[in-house]
Amino acid sequence: MSAKKVAVIVGSLRKESFNRKVANELIALGAPDLAGEIVEIGQLPLYNQDDDDNPPAASTAFKQRLAAFDAVLFVTPEYNRSVPGVLKNAIDAGSRPYGKSVWSGKPAAVMSVSPGAIGGFGANHHLRQSLVFLNMPCMQQPEAYIGGIAAMLDDRGKIKSDATRDF
Ligand code: FNR
Repeated sequence: MSAKKVAVIVGSLRKESFNRKVANELIALGAPDLAGEIVEIGQLPLYNQDDDDNPPAASTAFKQRLAAFDAVLFVTPEYNRSVPGVLKNAIDAGSRPYGKSVWSGKPAAVMSVSPGAIGGFGANHHLRQSLVFLNMPCMQQPEAYIGGIAAMLDDRGKIKSDATRDF
């Protein structure tokens, strides 16, 4: 059986993003029957409902790319106890026009990553709220809140601890 294709969406555009580093580690550590690939979101213009009849080319390309995936893994920081705007924008762009959402029915999982102690819990759960409306069945357990990330990666962005890698 061929591997299931998993779109990995990173909720940070920062060059040295911890979330991107963890996402790359997850892709490398993934089960052999999962093929993860980061799908970029930084090129998407701000979503504007006025454009639904004639969406920007970048949004159309994003939706076409996502359509080829079997599932979606979100790896995101928490901004002000919620989902970063850039990630919410990507979710909105993929969800419209109404009835033409690219997300609907795709299984999802969420990991939040933060240098802080509570591991982006607020972002993780606000994101899950959107996934309910988007009709994305979301993995419940294990929950994945990765706090204290700054001390967990080496200078190549690799996870240092065996216990964290096992998790
Ligand atoms: C943050 N940060 C943050 N961290 C957190 O745990 N909870 C929060 O609510 C916030 N809020 C917040 C708002 C804004 C606007 C910024 C820029 C940052 C800190 C954040 O976790 C930190 O910058 C991470 O390094 C961001 O993730 P990446 O870019 O490293 O993946």
